[in-house]
Amino acid sequence: MTIPAPIALLAELTHRCPLSCPYCSNPLEMVRKSTELDTGTWIDVFLQAADMGVLQLHLSGGEPASRRDLEDLTRAASNAGLYTNLITSGIGLTPRRLDALEAAGLDHVQLSLQGTNAELADRIGGYKGGFERKLAIARDIKERGLPLTLNAVMHRQNLDDLDRTIEMAVELGARRLEVACVQFHGWATKNRAALMPTREQTEAVKQTVAAAARRLSGILAFDFVPPDYHADYPKACMGGWGSAGLNVIPDGTVLPCHAAQSIPHLTFEKVQDRSLSDIWYKSPAFNAYRGTDWMPEPCRSCERKTIDFGGCRCQALAIAGDAAATDPVCVKSKDHDKVRQLLDDATAREENLIYRVNP
Ligand code: SF4
Ligand code: FES
Repeated sequence: MTIPAPIALLAELTHRCPLSCPYCSNPLEMVRKSTELDTGTWIDVFLQAADMGVLQLHLSGGEPASRRDLEDLTRAASNAGLYTNLITSGIGLTPRRLDALEAAGLDHVQLSLQGTNAELADRIGGYKGGFERKLAIARDIKERGLPLTLNAVMHRQNLDDLDRTIEMAVELGARRLEVACVQFHGWATKNRAALMPTREQTEAVKQTVAAAARRLSGILAFDFVPPDYHADYPKACMGGWGSAGLNVIPDGTVLPCHAAQSIPHLTFEKVQDRSLSDIWYKSPAFNAYRGTDWMPEPCRSCERKTIDFGGCRCQALAIAGDAAATDPVCVKSKDHDKVRQLLDDATAREENLIYRVNP
């Protein structure tokens, strides 16, 4: 098969973060500051990515503003011709840093929103005063005319607040709202029982997003990640393994997706040891689940196999115990009853939030 060049690179600059969100999808074992890539190595990664044909660079974390060299990294990426998107909680940004980032060529900001009021947002984020600081930085972003997307991770504890979330996105001048229902990877799996949306919430969120997208057409665009445990078919995770994007984590390990390190039999290489291009095109880990040849039945003979690529490999491992299995979310999966069981267990219990422990 012909392997396409990646379109997007997610650069997890650091796992350090002032917030402690229970829904964090970063791994349980996070990378410490002492093993983070230095400025020069990150810049080399960006240059390699641009050479490969990558168009979009997502500067992420943890909280990328925890890196003092964020402005230098942004400038280098912009000079390399990459479209730069800063994925941030806003904590650690100041008007002065925003000015410097804008001067460095930052193209877009994606600001997370944990809730629509201080009580809820600060409780979910585990950071007192975070909501007010976030609102202030959202205004600063708007003042500068930087395109803004609000990213709202939605779950059982804030889904009933979706209407207000949408209003806030409009008030803050966001161009897009990402309504991202929680995905259970990494730390978030500890909080499945506390965060799993109910069936009623799942139905309501679809209708609310569809109605708001019609009502606000031309004002606010929507990206919607539905709660897939309630779905009949899985999502095309990462648009298919090794087909559209790659992640580089703080210590330089290159991954096909956020949770790939949970698959124990795969070995992931580092940018310090091999070129990004070699890793993308030639490494066994990136080729393990590329395309459709690796698929078992029922995916192999399914009409949706080039739509969802058999779903999420990490979810297949976590629920079915086999990364090469059909994603158990799929109604055709022999393990689908395990998803039903997980749903019933999770929504039947009220659990306290378990906050992320920072490295
Ligand atoms: Fe997707 Fe496989 Fe289910 Fe078909 S059987 S819908 S390819 S996960
Ligand atoms: Fe790894 Fe979906 S998160 S394939």
